[in-house]
Formats: sequence, C-alpha cells, structure tokens
Amino acid sequence: MTKMAIMGYGVVGSGVYDIVTKNADTITDKTGDELKVKYILDIRDFDDHPEKHLFVKDADIIAADDEVTLVAEAMGGATFAYEFTKKMLLVGKSVVTSNKELVSKKGTELFRIAKEKNVSYMFEASVGGGIPIIRPLVNCLAANRIQGIYGIMNGTTNYILTKMFKENQSFDVALSDAKRLGYAEQDPTADVEGFDTMRKISILTSLATGWKAECDKIPTEGITKISAEDVACAEKLGCSVKLIGYSKIVNGKVTARVCPMLIPSDCPLYGVEDVFNAILVKGDMVGDVMMYGRGAGKEATASAIVGDLMDVVRHKGVFDKNFSWDEEAENGFADSSDELNAFFVRCEKTKAEIEKVFNNVKFVNGCDNAFVTEEMTEKEFEVKTASLGGILSKIRVYK
Ligand code: HSE
Repeated sequence: MTKMAIMGYGVVGSGVYDIVTKNADTITDKTGDELKVKYILDIRDFDDHPEKHLFVKDADIIAADDEVTLVAEAMGGATFAYEFTKKMLLVGKSVVTSNKELVSKKGTELFRIAKEKNVSYMFEASVGGGIPIIRPLVNCLAANRIQGIYGIMNGTTNYILTKMFKENQSFDVALSDAKRLGYAEQDPTADVEGFDTMRKISILTSLATGWKAECDKIPTEGITKISAEDVACAEKLGCSVKLIGYSKIVNGKVTARVCPMLIPSDCPLYGVEDVFNAILVKGDMVGDVMMYGRGAGKEATASAIVGDLMDVVRHKGVFDKNFSWDEEAENGFADSSDELNAFFVRCEKTKAEIEKVFNNVKFVNGCDNAFVTEEMTEKEFEVKTASLGGILSKIRVYK
C-alpha cells in the first residue's frame, strides 16, 4: 500500500480525493498497489466530511510521517505551496502538482531538490488540465526536434470567448460562470490577462528546450480588448479569435508570446470552444500533432494529477531528468521585435490613408476600415501603426 497526502482541499484537491476513493479498484488493478489517502492538509474545517479525521492544519505532521511517501499539491500559488512542496521533497517524498505558477516560477529549484533526494516532482496537470501533454512531449515525441508549440491553454478565457461571441453573454456573466464551474483562478486576472497561459507556454517551452524559458521574456496580452466588432470581422475572413500561447524554436532560439490570434478555419485550433483546450506541437519528424480535451475543472485536472500519482506508484518515485529543465540559457530567446507576423487591424482611417502607410493590405469585405497586413516584423508594424494613428484593434494572424 502507498500512503499519500493531499495538500489543499479546494476544487482540484477534492477532485483528487474523489478519484482516489471512487476509482480505488481500477487504480489498484493498474498499479498493482493500493493508494490510500492518510492526510488532507487545509486550514479550513470540513466537519461534514465522511473522513473528517484525515484533515490536518499543519504540514509538519505530513512531513514527519515516514509512512507517507507521496503528496498531491493542489494549493495553488507560489508561497505556501512552494514552502510545503520544498519541505516534502527535502524529507524524501514525491510530489505531484497542477500548480503551473509554482512549476513555472520555482521548477528549476524544486527539480534540483527532487534529483538530490531521488524522488519525483510531476506536473502533468499544470498544462491543459486533463489533456495529456507533458508526457507526450517528453516521451512520445522525444525523437523530434520540437519546432513550435501553439496552444489554447486557458479554459476560462476560451469559455468566456465562446459565451460572449457565440451566445451573446456579457463578459461579467461568462466570467462568473467560469468561476462557479471551477475553471477560473482565485484571481481571474491571471486568466483574462494571459498570465496563466504565459506560465503554461513557459513550462512547455522549457521542456522542449531543456532550459528554463523565463515568463518575463514572454510578451503577454489577454482577451480584455477583444470586441464583438473584431470577432464579426474575423468571421467574415473565415477565422475565429482565440487566446494563443506559442513558442517557435528555430536553431535553438525561442520566440514565445501570449496573445489573441485570428485562427483560419483550416487550422485544427479553429473550432476549439468552451472550456476545451488544444495544444498543437510541431515536430521535425512527426509533423503536426494536436492534443485536445478539457483544459480546466475539477475532474479533468484531478484526472491528470491521479495519473501522475499512479505513475509515481508504478515507478517507485525516482527522479526522471526528462521531466525537468536546467537554468535559463544565455541568449536563448530571439529578439521578439524581430518576429515576423501578419496583423488584422481595425482603425478609423480611410482606405487611401491605410494604403499610403501599409502598401499591400487585404481589406475585409463588409467591415469598415478593417484589413490584414502582409507579414512584417513586430517593430515595423509598431512604426506603421504609430504613423497611421486611429487604431481601434490589432490582432495577430496565425500562419
Ligand atoms: N484557470 C485555469 C484555466 C485552470 O482556466 O485554464 C486550469 O489551469
């Protein structure tokens, strides 16, 4: 029997408890071992819980119990979760998490401790909720040089975009539903301003390169400026609008970004709606591979955590270097202002004024003063838009 603890009994932590309890027989069948929850750490009281005796408020009780070899961290954030994860790894317990903030901020240090103690620190649930993406990237696609990763990686924003622009809901109603459904972060600014996606693309890029792709090197923009007019014009072009996190890896140099993008209908990301996420990986040998599924929510995220827990049980919690990265590489990032992109623009200027500045543009039929530019560098685009003036919106176009 493997005895485990759950740290944090919110949406995800309670989902882990439910799966470990309800699917105990299948877990035992598949791992050849019984997985038993011995403690649940939470500062709140759960007096109505059927196993209320499991709850503790002090992480040291778990750390001091040698019977517990495995811990699921579902606390979120990078303060107490960091302190307690470190504590557990240092006393030789394996830790499994969905905490993308912690993995993206402190992963390098936590991997180092896990390596020293020869235990696992696994984080499949940190990107894409229930979608298998970390393991496919690290194992199944290992033979490839990864050339690009493009993902709809935030369930909350994809849900909001779908509800606002397909069902005419207001932003506030869609966001409050996303909170009620357990999709949004405690502070949903991280969702709507793109920081959650930034952390996720940082994690995937770090795994693909083997060096830490720091979040502060990833220009990030959320969905709050997207208007109904933008979406209507995009539809006239045969495109949808999605919040995309991407990284392109050329000759070992990374260009990464989080931003809304126009997605053409022949791209598999085009029709991904609601809470669903999809991550498109471009390998030099395999070509395009896309993983699709529920990107947020209790059961979906807990399913990925329990999959990791079972993996640790099967492999007895040894450190696997492939699920880690080293320090940031010097000059690992390309200059993002040199990146080539085509842009969709809406503005208050006449066609003649637009053509004078941008030369070759494709105007959008049925949308006043909306156009798509040819490909140009980010800095060239900034100069041209500053010169044109009267810009209402600018959105990159997926190529
Ligand atoms: N708030 C996140 C999302 C949760 O909406 O995708 C899953 O990481």
